[in-house]
Amino acid sequence: MKHKLFEPYTVKDVTLKNRIVMSPMCMYSSDNQDGYAQPFHLTHYESRSAGQVGLIITEATAVLPEGRISHEDLGIWSDEHIEGLQKINEGIHRHGAKAGIQLAHAGRKANLRDEIFAPSAEAFSASMKVPTEMTNEDIQRTVEAFREGTRRSKEAGFDVIELHAAHGYLINQFLSPLTNKRDDEYGGTRENRYRFLREAIEAVKHEWNGPLFVRISGEEYHEDGNTMDDFIYFAREMKSQGVDLIDVSSGGVVPAAIDPYPGYQVTYSEQIKQGAGIDTGAVGLITSGNQAEEILQNERADLIFLARALLRNPYWPKEAADELGYSLEGPRQYTRAW
Ligand SMILES: Cc1cc2nc3c(=O)[nH]c(=O)nc-3n(C[C@H](O)[C@H](O)[C@H](O)COP(=O)(O)O)c2cc1C
Repeated sequence: MKHKLFEPYTVKDVTLKNRIVMSPMCMYSSDNQDGYAQPFHLTHYESRSAGQVGLIITEATAVLPEGRISHEDLGIWSDEHIEGLQKINEGIHRHGAKAGIQLAHAGRKANLRDEIFAPSAEAFSASMKVPTEMTNEDIQRTVEAFREGTRRSKEAGFDVIELHAAHGYLINQFLSPLTNKRDDEYGGTRENRYRFLREAIEAVKHEWNGPLFVRISGEEYHEDGNTMDDFIYFAREMKSQGVDLIDVSSGGVVPAAIDPYPGYQVTYSEQIKQGAGIDTGAVGLITSGNQAEEILQNERADLIFLARALLRNPYWPKEAADELGYSLEGPRQYTRAW
């Protein structure tokens, strides 16, 4: 049997040794509330690389301090953040994994003491702050922060950049009619709602010609939200701008009860992959080697993103390889157990 999960994947000048991706996961561990990487981050990311994950994408990393989800988020809003991120990269690269960074801005979902910003002045929920509606100047400053975040990511040695346009955070707030109530050129039609992401991608490309991924929510769980037709439109636009892969998640735009089941988001990945002719990543309750292999072999996605399964077991790739009967190379030091 072919083992697609363990086939390399090349995107631009970067080759991942397999299709297993560590999905971005906030660790809320910048304990001094300054966005700096801590010893925990180094151990956390390096151990998944020793576990033979192909690509490790760091948690949502804030391009501006007001774009943090919490005060403990990782940050990349100043040059001083580069050194810690460089150390994370060294650890990831030591065992042959590639490193990605998720550049993020929380918008109205920032749970912070200070003023927060969003496309429209509507709170996410009754317990969250009402954001300030962004002026044109705020928008330009934020797009510029994505450019600066990209420059710093490059200096820190990342191989892949992922823009966080999912889960109801800032970029998603521009994309969705549920959260974008603007009547200027950034709101209204889907062409206009896409404008902020278009500008953010152009800002990234100003500094970066390496692999570029974008994470979106491919279902908003609300009848007035974006439809699959809208997501395919956005995906085609991204493709024409040079985005390499869409990482397809769902939800988080407005409060909604989601009843997840194994592979519950894979269908969105499949529809976007087929509809827009762009590579995709699937994520969400993917837990076994067989399940991952099925998704890849049936061309429902090109990469498999895993979050909680990798929190439970940094050696998930070994478990999946055993299940699929594949002989996975491990760290030299662990040969006697492998
Ligand atoms: C602790 C934790 C933190 C997360 N933080 C992020 C994040 O920073 N960015 C993001 O796009 N998704 C985040 N997610 C979502 C995961 O990347 C993933 O999409 C989700 O957990 C579903 O995958 P799973 O079933 O493999 O866990 C987080 C999930 C968990 C469990």
